[in-house]
Amino acid sequence: MENKHFETLSIRTQAQASSHREHSVPLYLTSSFTFENAEHGSALFKGTQEGNLYSRFSNPNTDEFIKKLCALENYEDGVATASGMAAVYASLVSFLEQGDHIIASKNSFGNTLYIIQKILPKMGVSYTLVDLEDKEAWAQSVRTNTKLLYLETPSNPTLKIADLSYISKLCKANGIISIVDNCFATPYLQKPSDFGIDISIHSATKYIDGQGRVLGGAILGSSEHIHPCYEFLRRTGGCLSPFNAWILSKSLETLAIRMERHCHNAMAIATWLENNPVIDKVYYPFLESMEDYDLARQQMELGGGIVGFNFKGEASMAFRFLNNLKLHSLTANLGDSRSIATHPASTTHSKLNAEQQKEAGINPNFIRLSVGLEHVDDLIADIDQSLKKANENI
Ligand SMILES: Cc1ncc(COP(=O)(O)O)c(C=O)c1O
Repeated sequence: MENKHFETLSIRTQAQASSHREHSVPLYLTSSFTFENAEHGSALFKGTQEGNLYSRFSNPNTDEFIKKLCALENYEDGVATASGMAAVYASLVSFLEQGDHIIASKNSFGNTLYIIQKILPKMGVSYTLVDLEDKEAWAQSVRTNTKLLYLETPSNPTLKIADLSYISKLCKANGIISIVDNCFATPYLQKPSDFGIDISIHSATKYIDGQGRVLGGAILGSSEHIHPCYEFLRRTGGCLSPFNAWILSKSLETLAIRMERHCHNAMAIATWLENNPVIDKVYYPFLESMEDYDLARQQMELGGGIVGFNFKGEASMAFRFLNNLKLHSLTANLGDSRSIATHPASTTHSKLNAEQQKEAGINPNFIRLSVGLEHVDDLIADIDQSLKKANENI
């Protein structure tokens, strides 16, 4: 389905209908598939004939989900994973060998940093961590044995932006594979392939599901890059379940319209917070006050659904603010239709020591909002009443 818009591709990229001629793609909840005869089974196993064999290898629901994501992000091929972390792990381990080196952003998700700092060294892989925005540091970290470069943009939770064109040129000049975690932006807001990034990965658990129901992930790239990831996942079992793929593929049908509203609400809240006297700094990629504003505007269609902010004054404001919220949920997830408030210092980033938290731009005064799809006036009213109460109790 070439030359169609994002919304059309996300709705009309569908698995072929069965003999029942269903309109909505059914759930193929089966662990294996039967062979027409012994020769057919043998040909499927040899790979001389294409078809479904076993749901750890392929399934019509996971295939549809991946085909759709590839169409939306302009990548040739992809593989679906059980979670975002399975995508992160497979995208690293499938390429690395003992003696290799990886450069990664310091501002990556905590569990990703755990893999890079704690698991990869056990396999004899060394790493250098650099600040996402520090171009010189990326270039200076390249070694003759550097195999991969890994980053997230926008970053969690301070929404720093990496210059993807610069990164992809640096990688191409040095024979390095570039990997971008595109979870915060989603395929609707940012397409790493437009900037020459080799591999895009997703935690589909976030905006792609969009309703906080299932875990899932994906790795997208050229067939050459996806092949080793597929082989790794097929054998090690970190594959996506057909049920989750079915949910996620249907969720993609509404990604464009949901992201428009997430971004609209987030921009309104970020602007409102910037004008509030108890707030010190607001973090949102499309605020002119952000250091990376121009870059964000070049790389992203809209600013995304996450807003961060720091309170002025004492750190206890953050807990008082969270405890007085009435509409926002207190949970560590993001990308849900329900708005969520999180205190990264004591939850998502609590495993970092004080120095690492400081490097990641997180302090006890920092709050991350995952702005949902409720009416923006109700969200602002909830934040407003809670800020007032938090301030009264000082
Ligand atoms: C940027 C980013 N990447 C990856 C992940 C991991 O995804 P999952 O929870 O689906 O394993 C997360 C989860 O919060 C994330 O925020």
